[in-house]
Amino acid sequence: MTRDPLAVVILAAGQGTRMKSQLPKVLHALANKPMLNHVIDAVGGLSPAKIVVVVGPDMDLVAKAAAPHATVVQEERLGTGHAVACARPLLEDFRGHGDVLVVYGDTPLLTPDTLDKMLSARYASEGGAAPDLVGLAFTPDDPARYGRVLCDSDGRIERIIEYADATSEERQIGLCNAGIILGRGAFLFDQIARLDNDNAKGEYYLTDVFALARAQGRPARAVEGAGEDVLGVNDRQELAAAEAVLQRRLRQKAMAGGVTLVDPQSVWLSADTVLAPDVVVQPNVFFGPGVRVDSGTEIRGFCHLEGVHIGPKGRIGPFARLRPGAVLGDSVHIGNFVEIKNAEMGQGAKANHLAYVGDAKVGSRANIGAGTITCNYDGFAKHRTEIGADAFIGSNTALVAPVSVGDGVIIGAGSTITHDVAPDSLALARGRQKSLPDRARQFRASQAKKSKA
Ligand code: UD1
Ligand code: MG
Repeated sequence: MTRDPLAVVILAAGQGTRMKSQLPKVLHALANKPMLNHVIDAVGGLSPAKIVVVVGPDMDLVAKAAAPHATVVQEERLGTGHAVACARPLLEDFRGHGDVLVVYGDTPLLTPDTLDKMLSARYASEGGAAPDLVGLAFTPDDPARYGRVLCDSDGRIERIIEYADATSEERQIGLCNAGIILGRGAFLFDQIARLDNDNAKGEYYLTDVFALARAQGRPARAVEGAGEDVLGVNDRQELAAAEAVLQRRLRQKAMAGGVTLVDPQSVWLSADTVLAPDVVVQPNVFFGPGVRVDSGTEIRGFCHLEGVHIGPKGRIGPFARLRPGAVLGDSVHIGNFVEIKNAEMGQGAKANHLAYVGDAKVGSRANIGAGTITCNYDGFAKHRTEIGADAFIGSNTALVAPVSVGDGVIIGAGSTITHDVAPDSLALARGRQKSLPDRARQFRASQAKKSKA
Protein backbone atom coordinates (compact mmCIF):
# COMPACT_ATOMS: atom_id res chain seq x y z
CA MET A 1 0.00 0.00 0.00
CA THR A 2 1.46 3.37 -0.90
CA ARG A 3 1.71 5.76 1.96
CA ASP A 4 0.22 9.22 1.93
CA PRO A 5 2.51 12.21 2.43
CA LEU A 6 3.23 12.82 6.09
CA ALA A 7 3.15 15.98 8.18
CA VAL A 8 4.37 16.06 11.78
CA VAL A 9 3.04 18.33 14.51
CA ILE A 10 5.26 18.71 17.56
CA LEU A 11 3.57 20.15 20.64
CA ALA A 12 5.89 22.43 22.53
CA ALA A 13 3.74 25.26 23.88
CA GLY A 14 3.73 24.21 27.52
CA GLN A 15 6.07 26.05 29.89
CA GLY A 16 6.44 22.88 31.92
CA THR A 17 5.20 23.96 35.34
CA ARG A 18 6.62 20.91 37.06
CA MET A 19 10.13 21.72 35.84
CA LYS A 20 10.01 24.91 37.97
CA SER A 21 12.17 26.71 35.43
CA GLN A 22 12.44 29.99 33.51
CA LEU A 23 13.41 27.95 30.47
CA PRO A 24 10.58 26.44 28.38
CA LYS A 25 10.48 22.72 29.07
CA VAL A 26 11.37 21.51 25.58
CA LEU A 27 14.60 23.53 25.66
CA HIS A 28 15.95 21.59 28.61
CA ALA A 29 18.79 19.54 27.21
CA LEU A 30 19.66 15.88 27.17
CA ALA A 31 23.24 15.10 26.18
CA ASN A 32 23.64 18.83 25.54
CA LYS A 33 20.89 18.99 22.93
CA PRO A 34 17.43 20.48 23.63
CA MET A 35 14.66 17.88 23.99
CA LEU A 36 12.83 19.52 21.08
CA ASN A 37 15.75 18.85 18.74
CA HIS A 38 15.89 15.21 19.80
CA VAL A 39 12.23 14.93 18.81
CA ILE A 40 12.80 16.76 15.51
CA ASP A 41 15.66 14.40 14.67
CA ALA A 42 13.62 11.29 15.53
CA VAL A 43 10.68 12.27 13.33
CA GLY A 44 13.14 13.33 10.63
CA GLY A 45 13.85 9.60 10.22
CA LEU A 46 10.41 9.27 8.61
CA SER A 47 11.28 11.94 6.00
CA PRO A 48 8.07 13.92 6.58
CA ALA A 49 6.98 16.45 3.96
CA LYS A 50 6.45 19.04 6.69
CA ILE A 51 7.14 19.60 10.39
CA VAL A 52 5.17 22.19 12.35
CA VAL A 53 6.11 23.04 15.93
CA VAL A 54 3.42 24.53 18.17
CA VAL A 55 4.99 27.04 20.56
CA GLY A 56 3.62 29.29 23.28
CA PRO A 57 3.59 33.08 23.21
CA ASP A 58 6.98 34.65 24.06
CA MET A 59 8.80 31.50 23.10
CA ASP A 60 11.17 32.94 20.52
CA LEU A 61 13.91 30.67 21.79
CA VAL A 62 11.78 27.61 21.08
CA ALA A 63 11.02 28.90 17.57
CA LYS A 64 14.75 29.43 17.07
CA ALA A 65 15.50 25.87 18.15
CA ALA A 66 12.79 24.62 15.78
CA ALA A 67 14.16 26.49 12.74
CA PRO A 68 14.08 25.91 9.80
CA HIS A 69 10.78 24.18 10.55
CA ALA A 70 7.57 26.18 10.68
CA THR A 71 6.17 27.26 14.03
CA VAL A 72 2.70 28.34 15.03
CA VAL A 73 1.85 30.15 18.25
CA GLN A 74 -0.80 28.74 20.57
CA GLU A 75 -1.82 32.01 22.24
CA GLU A 76 -3.57 30.33 25.18
CA ARG A 77 -2.60 26.93 26.49
CA LEU A 78 -5.97 25.32 26.33
CA GLY A 79 -4.78 21.74 26.06
CA THR A 80 -3.04 19.33 23.72
CA GLY A 81 -6.09 19.00 21.44
CA HIS A 82 -6.33 22.77 21.10
CA ALA A 83 -2.59 22.92 20.37
CA VAL A 84 -2.96 20.56 17.40
CA ALA A 85 -5.92 22.59 16.15
CA CYS A 86 -3.65 25.66 16.09
CA ALA A 87 -1.43 23.91 13.51
CA ARG A 88 -4.35 23.20 11.21
CA PRO A 89 -4.02 26.33 8.98
CA LEU A 90 -0.48 25.24 8.09
CA LEU A 91 -1.59 21.74 7.18
CA GLU A 92 -4.42 22.31 4.72
CA ASP A 93 -2.49 20.26 2.14
CA PHE A 94 -2.58 17.25 4.43
CA ARG A 95 -6.28 17.39 5.24
CA GLY A 96 -7.40 16.21 1.84
CA HIS A 97 -4.80 13.60 1.22
CA GLY A 98 -2.18 13.02 3.84
CA ASP A 99 -1.27 11.72 7.25
CA VAL A 100 -0.56 13.71 10.37
CA LEU A 101 1.66 12.48 13.17
CA VAL A 102 1.39 14.29 16.50
CA VAL A 103 4.27 13.99 18.94
CA TYR A 104 4.95 15.79 22.20
CA GLY A 105 8.09 17.87 22.52
CA ASP A 106 8.67 16.42 25.98
CA THR A 107 9.14 12.86 24.72
CA PRO A 108 12.77 13.08 23.62
CA LEU A 109 13.83 9.43 23.48
CA LEU A 110 11.63 8.44 20.56
CA THR A 111 13.34 6.24 18.02
CA PRO A 112 12.58 6.01 14.30
CA ASP A 113 11.86 2.28 14.92
CA THR A 114 8.91 3.03 17.21
CA LEU A 115 7.54 5.57 14.74
CA ASP A 116 7.96 3.07 11.90
CA LYS A 117 5.90 0.56 13.86
CA MET A 118 3.08 3.09 13.99
CA LEU A 119 3.28 3.74 10.26
CA SER A 120 3.13 -0.01 9.58
CA ALA A 121 0.02 -0.32 11.80
CA ARG A 122 -1.62 2.59 10.00
CA TYR A 123 -1.27 0.79 6.69
CA ALA A 124 -1.95 -2.76 7.88
CA SER A 125 -5.47 -3.67 6.76
CA GLU A 126 -5.67 -7.04 8.61
CA GLY A 127 -8.77 -8.18 6.75
CA GLY A 128 -10.64 -4.88 7.13
CA ALA A 129 -9.86 -1.28 6.31
CA ALA A 130 -6.61 0.20 7.54
CA PRO A 131 -7.22 2.17 10.77
CA ASP A 132 -7.72 5.92 10.45
CA LEU A 133 -5.94 6.46 13.74
CA VAL A 134 -3.09 4.74 15.54
CA GLY A 135 -2.10 5.52 19.12
CA LEU A 136 1.09 4.58 20.91
CA ALA A 137 0.77 2.86 24.27
CA PHE A 138 3.33 1.47 26.67
CA THR A 139 3.53 -0.23 30.04
CA PRO A 140 5.98 1.72 32.23
CA ASP A 141 7.33 0.37 35.51
CA ASP A 142 5.67 3.32 37.20
CA PRO A 143 2.54 4.56 35.40
CA ALA A 144 2.85 7.83 37.35
CA ARG A 145 0.66 10.57 35.83
CA TYR A 146 0.38 9.19 32.33
CA GLY A 147 -3.05 8.88 30.71
CA ARG A 148 -4.40 5.33 31.02
CA VAL A 149 -5.38 3.45 27.87
CA LEU A 150 -8.49 1.29 27.74
CA CYS A 151 -8.36 -1.26 24.93
CA ASP A 152 -10.84 -3.88 23.76
CA SER A 153 -9.80 -7.48 23.23
CA ASP A 154 -8.88 -6.71 19.58
CA GLY A 155 -6.27 -4.16 20.61
CA ARG A 156 -8.47 -1.26 19.59
CA ILE A 157 -8.58 1.79 21.79
CA GLU A 158 -11.84 2.42 23.62
CA ARG A 159 -10.73 5.62 25.28
CA ILE A 160 -7.93 7.28 27.16
CA ILE A 161 -8.50 8.45 30.68
CA GLU A 162 -6.29 11.29 31.83
CA TYR A 163 -4.68 10.84 35.23
CA ALA A 164 -6.47 13.88 36.63
CA ASP A 165 -9.84 12.43 35.62
CA ALA A 166 -9.19 8.80 36.51
CA THR A 167 -10.79 7.05 39.47
CA SER A 168 -8.42 5.22 41.82
CA GLU A 169 -9.55 2.00 40.13
CA GLU A 170 -8.73 3.35 36.67
CA ARG A 171 -5.33 4.44 37.95
CA GLN A 172 -4.56 0.75 38.50
CA ILE A 173 -4.47 0.26 34.70
CA GLY A 174 -0.89 -0.37 33.62
CA LEU A 175 -1.23 0.46 29.91
CA CYS A 176 -0.38 4.13 29.41
CA ASN A 177 -0.62 6.69 26.66
CA ALA A 178 2.71 7.71 25.16
CA GLY A 179 1.05 10.74 23.60
CA ILE A 180 1.87 9.97 19.99
CA ILE A 181 -0.91 9.78 17.43
CA LEU A 182 -0.78 9.00 13.75
CA GLY A 183 -3.88 9.48 11.67
CA ARG A 184 -5.41 10.36 8.37
CA GLY A 185 -5.24 14.17 8.43
CA ALA A 186 -8.88 14.81 7.54
CA PHE A 187 -10.18 12.30 10.09
CA LEU A 188 -7.92 13.50 12.90
CA PHE A 189 -8.81 17.16 12.42
CA ASP A 190 -12.55 16.29 12.25
CA GLN A 191 -12.28 14.64 15.66
CA ILE A 192 -10.25 17.51 17.06
CA ALA A 193 -12.98 19.93 15.96
CA ARG A 194 -15.40 17.98 18.16
CA LEU A 195 -13.37 18.05 21.39
CA ASP A 196 -14.78 19.70 24.49
CA ASN A 197 -13.10 20.74 27.73
CA ASP A 198 -15.50 19.18 30.17
CA ASN A 199 -12.87 17.51 32.36
CA ALA A 200 -10.82 17.93 35.53
CA LYS A 201 -8.35 20.35 33.94
CA GLY A 202 -10.84 22.25 31.77
CA GLU A 203 -8.58 21.53 28.78
CA TYR A 204 -9.18 20.28 25.26
CA TYR A 205 -7.46 16.89 25.59
CA LEU A 206 -6.06 15.47 22.37
CA THR A 207 -6.52 12.06 23.93
CA ASP A 208 -10.32 12.37 23.69
CA VAL A 209 -10.11 11.83 19.91
CA PHE A 210 -9.89 8.09 20.60
CA ALA A 211 -13.33 7.87 22.24
CA LEU A 212 -14.78 10.08 19.49
CA ALA A 213 -13.34 7.80 16.79
CA ARG A 214 -14.76 4.77 18.49
CA ALA A 215 -18.20 6.36 18.81
CA GLN A 216 -18.18 6.62 15.02
CA GLY A 217 -17.37 2.95 14.65
CA ARG A 218 -13.80 3.71 13.55
CA PRO A 219 -11.72 2.87 16.59
CA ALA A 220 -8.00 3.48 16.65
CA ARG A 221 -5.44 0.74 16.79
CA ALA A 222 -2.94 0.72 19.65
CA VAL A 223 0.71 0.00 19.03
CA GLU A 224 2.79 -0.84 22.06
CA GLY A 225 6.19 0.81 22.27
CA ALA A 226 9.19 0.20 24.48
CA GLY A 227 8.82 2.09 27.74
CA GLU A 228 12.09 3.94 27.54
CA ASP A 229 11.41 5.24 24.01
CA VAL A 230 8.41 7.21 25.17
CA LEU A 231 9.47 8.43 28.57
CA GLY A 232 7.77 11.81 29.07
CA VAL A 233 9.80 14.50 30.77
CA ASN A 234 7.76 16.70 33.09
CA ASP A 235 10.06 17.31 36.04
CA ARG A 236 13.76 17.23 36.89
CA GLN A 237 13.71 13.62 38.03
CA GLU A 238 12.24 12.50 34.72
CA LEU A 239 14.84 14.65 32.98
CA ALA A 240 17.60 12.78 34.84
CA ALA A 241 15.98 9.42 34.07
CA ALA A 242 15.82 10.28 30.35
CA GLU A 243 19.45 11.45 30.45
CA ALA A 244 20.51 8.10 31.90
CA VAL A 245 18.77 6.22 29.08
CA LEU A 246 20.26 8.47 26.44
CA GLN A 247 23.77 8.20 27.87
CA ARG A 248 23.49 4.43 27.80
CA ARG A 249 22.41 4.56 24.15
CA LEU A 250 25.25 6.93 23.21
CA ARG A 251 27.84 4.74 24.92
CA GLN A 252 26.50 1.63 23.21
CA LYS A 253 26.64 3.40 19.85
CA ALA A 254 30.25 4.51 20.47
CA MET A 255 31.33 1.00 21.45
CA ALA A 256 29.52 -0.54 18.48
CA GLY A 257 31.53 1.88 16.34
CA GLY A 258 34.85 0.54 17.64
CA VAL A 259 35.56 2.84 20.59
CA THR A 260 36.88 1.37 23.85
CA LEU A 261 35.17 2.80 26.91
CA VAL A 262 37.11 1.24 29.76
CA ASP A 263 34.35 2.05 32.25
CA PRO A 264 31.32 3.08 30.14
CA GLN A 265 29.18 4.24 33.07
CA SER A 266 31.63 6.96 34.01
CA VAL A 267 31.95 8.50 30.54
CA TRP A 268 29.50 11.29 29.77
CA LEU A 269 28.85 11.98 26.09
CA SER A 270 27.10 14.75 24.16
CA ALA A 271 24.66 13.95 21.40
CA ASP A 272 27.13 15.30 18.82
CA THR A 273 30.31 13.67 20.17
CA VAL A 274 32.21 11.96 17.36
CA LEU A 275 34.70 9.30 18.41
CA ALA A 276 36.55 7.41 15.68
CA PRO A 277 37.25 3.68 15.84
CA ASP A 278 40.17 2.79 18.11
CA VAL A 279 39.75 5.78 20.34
CA VAL A 280 40.27 4.64 23.94
CA VAL A 281 38.52 6.50 26.75
CA GLN A 282 39.59 5.84 30.32
CA PRO A 283 37.17 6.30 33.24
CA ASN A 284 35.63 9.62 34.24
CA VAL A 285 35.76 11.70 31.09
CA PHE A 286 33.27 14.44 30.18
CA PHE A 287 32.58 15.18 26.52
CA GLY A 288 30.83 18.55 26.20
CA PRO A 289 29.33 19.75 22.93
CA GLY A 290 31.30 19.80 19.68
CA VAL A 291 34.02 17.22 20.35
CA ARG A 292 35.61 15.11 17.64
CA VAL A 293 38.39 12.65 18.34
CA ASP A 294 40.27 10.85 15.59
CA SER A 295 41.42 7.28 15.50
CA GLY A 296 44.00 5.83 17.88
CA THR A 297 43.84 8.65 20.41
CA GLU A 298 43.71 7.82 24.10
CA ILE A 299 41.77 10.06 26.45
CA ARG A 300 42.95 9.33 29.96
CA GLY A 301 40.87 9.71 33.09
CA PHE A 302 39.28 12.90 34.40
CA CYS A 303 39.47 15.01 31.24
CA HIS A 304 36.92 17.71 30.44
CA LEU A 305 36.54 18.44 26.73
CA GLU A 306 34.30 20.78 24.77
CA GLY A 307 34.41 22.30 21.29
CA VAL A 308 37.62 20.54 20.29
CA HIS A 309 39.03 18.47 17.49
CA ILE A 310 41.72 16.02 18.56
CA GLY A 311 43.74 14.45 15.76
CA PRO A 312 44.81 10.81 15.51
CA LYS A 313 47.20 8.99 17.86
CA GLY A 314 47.05 11.66 20.55
CA ARG A 315 47.50 11.16 24.27
CA ILE A 316 45.31 13.40 26.36
CA GLY A 317 45.25 13.66 30.15
CA PRO A 318 44.77 12.52 32.78
CA PHE A 319 43.19 15.71 34.13
CA ALA A 320 43.35 17.78 30.94
CA ARG A 321 40.89 20.53 30.11
CA LEU A 322 40.36 21.23 26.43
CA ARG A 323 38.12 24.22 25.76
CA PRO A 324 36.36 25.51 22.65
CA GLY A 325 38.58 26.16 19.68
CA ALA A 326 41.31 23.70 20.65
CA VAL A 327 42.52 21.93 17.52
CA LEU A 328 45.16 19.29 18.07
CA GLY A 329 47.07 17.71 15.18
CA ASP A 330 48.45 14.18 14.89
CA SER A 331 50.15 12.60 17.89
CA VAL A 332 49.80 15.57 20.23
CA HIS A 333 50.42 14.92 23.94
CA ILE A 334 48.53 16.91 26.53
CA GLY A 335 49.22 15.99 30.13
CA ASN A 336 47.84 16.65 33.58
CA PHE A 337 46.48 20.05 34.54
CA VAL A 338 46.95 21.52 31.08
CA GLU A 339 44.28 23.85 29.73
CA ILE A 340 44.06 24.57 26.02
CA LYS A 341 41.63 27.18 24.68
CA ASN A 342 41.19 28.49 21.14
CA ALA A 343 44.61 27.20 20.18
CA GLU A 344 46.13 24.97 17.55
CA MET A 345 48.77 22.44 18.45
CA GLY A 346 50.76 21.14 15.47
CA GLN A 347 51.70 17.53 14.82
CA GLY A 348 53.64 15.95 17.67
CA ALA A 349 53.52 19.06 19.88
CA LYS A 350 53.56 18.43 23.62
CA ALA A 351 52.35 20.18 26.75
CA ASN A 352 52.75 17.52 29.37
CA HIS A 353 52.22 19.28 32.69
CA LEU A 354 50.59 22.33 34.25
CA ALA A 355 50.15 24.84 31.45
CA TYR A 356 47.69 27.32 29.97
CA VAL A 357 47.76 27.71 26.19
CA GLY A 358 45.08 30.14 25.00
CA ASP A 359 44.61 32.09 21.74
CA ALA A 360 47.74 30.53 20.37
CA LYS A 361 49.28 28.60 17.55
CA VAL A 362 51.89 26.03 18.52
CA GLY A 363 54.06 24.58 15.76
CA SER A 364 54.80 20.93 15.10
CA ARG A 365 56.95 19.09 17.64
CA ALA A 366 57.15 22.16 19.89
CA ASN A 367 57.55 21.36 23.58
CA ILE A 368 55.70 23.46 26.13
CA GLY A 369 57.36 23.10 29.53
CA ALA A 370 55.62 22.70 32.86
CA GLY A 371 54.13 25.90 34.19
CA THR A 372 54.07 27.74 30.84
CA ILE A 373 51.37 30.37 30.54
CA THR A 374 50.28 32.33 27.50
CA CYS A 375 49.24 35.64 29.04
CA ASN A 376 46.53 36.30 26.47
CA TYR A 377 44.31 38.77 28.29
CA ASP A 378 45.20 42.28 29.40
CA GLY A 379 41.93 42.89 31.15
CA PHE A 380 40.35 44.35 28.02
CA ALA A 381 41.21 42.28 24.96
CA LYS A 382 42.59 38.89 24.02
CA HIS A 383 45.91 38.65 22.15
CA ARG A 384 47.61 35.86 20.24
CA THR A 385 50.79 33.92 20.87
CA GLU A 386 52.63 32.21 18.01
CA ILE A 387 55.10 29.46 18.82
CA GLY A 388 57.13 28.02 15.93
CA ALA A 389 57.89 24.42 15.00
CA ASP A 390 60.45 22.62 17.17
CA ALA A 391 60.46 25.44 19.71
CA PHE A 392 61.29 24.51 23.28
CA ILE A 393 59.60 26.59 25.93
CA GLY A 394 61.35 26.14 29.28
CA SER A 395 59.37 25.53 32.43
CA ASN A 396 57.55 28.38 34.12
CA THR A 397 57.65 30.70 31.14
CA ALA A 398 55.15 33.53 30.77
CA LEU A 399 54.53 34.51 27.15
CA VAL A 400 52.97 37.96 27.21
CA ALA A 401 50.79 38.24 24.11
CA PRO A 402 50.82 39.49 21.47
CA VAL A 403 54.13 37.77 20.99
CA SER A 404 55.78 35.47 18.51
CA VAL A 405 58.44 32.85 19.14
CA GLY A 406 60.14 31.60 15.96
CA ASP A 407 60.87 28.06 14.78
CA GLY A 408 63.59 26.25 16.69
CA VAL A 409 63.74 28.80 19.52
CA ILE A 410 64.74 27.78 23.03
CA ILE A 411 63.32 29.81 25.92
CA GLY A 412 65.13 29.45 29.22
CA ALA A 413 63.05 28.31 32.16
CA GLY A 414 61.43 31.02 34.23
CA SER A 415 61.45 33.62 31.46
CA THR A 416 58.85 36.33 30.98
CA ILE A 417 58.82 36.89 27.22
CA THR A 418 57.45 40.25 26.12
CA HIS A 419 59.21 40.68 22.75
CA ASP A 420 59.21 38.52 19.63
CA VAL A 421 62.05 35.98 19.44
CA ALA A 422 63.71 35.30 16.06
CA PRO A 423 64.00 31.71 14.80
CA ASP A 424 66.72 29.53 16.32
CA SER A 425 67.52 32.06 19.08
CA LEU A 426 67.95 31.27 22.74
CA ALA A 427 65.95 33.72 24.83
CA LEU A 428 66.37 34.29 28.56
CA ALA A 429 64.34 36.85 30.44
CA ARG A 430 64.89 36.42 34.14
CA GLY A 431 67.07 37.74 36.94
CA ARG A 432 70.66 36.59 36.68
CA GLN A 433 71.72 34.07 39.29
CA LYS A 434 74.25 35.18 41.88
CA SER A 435 76.07 32.52 44.01
CA LEU A 436 78.08 33.53 47.11
CA PRO A 437 80.61 30.80 47.88
CA ASP A 438 80.59 29.47 51.47
CA ARG A 439 77.96 32.02 52.48
CA ALA A 440 75.39 29.41 53.51
CA ARG A 441 77.78 27.69 55.90
CA GLN A 442 78.79 31.04 57.46
CA PHE A 443 75.13 31.92 57.96
CA ARG A 444 74.37 28.67 59.74
CA ALA A 445 77.41 29.09 61.99
CA SER A 446 76.37 32.61 63.03
CA GLN A 447 72.83 31.44 63.79
CA ALA A 448 74.15 28.56 65.93
CA LYS A 449 76.32 31.00 67.97
CA LYS A 450 73.32 33.27 68.61
CA SER A 451 71.16 30.45 69.91
CA LYS A 452 73.88 29.34 72.39
CA ALA A 453 74.41 32.88 73.73
C1 UD1 B 1 0.10 13.99 28.04
C2 UD1 B 1 -1.16 13.17 27.70
C3 UD1 B 1 -1.14 11.88 28.50
C4 UD1 B 1 0.13 11.11 28.18
C5 UD1 B 1 1.40 11.97 28.38
C6 UD1 B 1 2.60 11.26 27.77
C7 UD1 B 1 -2.95 14.75 27.12
C8 UD1 B 1 -4.20 15.43 27.57
N1 UD1 B 1 -2.33 13.95 28.01
O1 UD1 B 1 0.05 14.32 29.42
O2 UD1 B 1 -2.26 11.08 28.16
O3 UD1 B 1 0.20 9.95 28.98
O4 UD1 B 1 1.27 13.24 27.72
O5 UD1 B 1 3.79 11.94 28.04
O6 UD1 B 1 -2.55 14.95 25.98
N2 UD1 B 1 1.24 21.29 25.16
C9 UD1 B 1 0.93 22.31 24.29
N3 UD1 B 1 -0.18 23.07 24.52
C10 UD1 B 1 -1.01 22.85 25.56
C11 UD1 B 1 -0.71 21.79 26.45
C12 UD1 B 1 0.43 21.03 26.23
O7 UD1 B 1 1.65 22.54 23.33
O8 UD1 B 1 -2.02 23.58 25.68
C13 UD1 B 1 2.44 20.48 24.91
C14 UD1 B 1 3.46 20.54 26.04
O9 UD1 B 1 4.43 21.52 25.76
C15 UD1 B 1 4.08 19.14 26.00
C16 UD1 B 1 3.00 18.27 25.41
O10 UD1 B 1 2.05 19.14 24.81
O11 UD1 B 1 5.22 19.10 25.15
C17 UD1 B 1 2.31 17.41 26.47
O12 UD1 B 1 1.79 18.23 27.49
P1 UD1 B 1 1.95 17.85 29.02
O13 UD1 B 1 1.34 18.96 29.81
O14 UD1 B 1 3.32 17.45 29.33
O15 UD1 B 1 0.97 16.59 29.10
P2 UD1 B 1 1.05 15.40 30.13
O16 UD1 B 1 0.40 15.81 31.38
O17 UD1 B 1 2.41 14.87 30.19
MG1 MG C 1 4.22 15.57 29.49
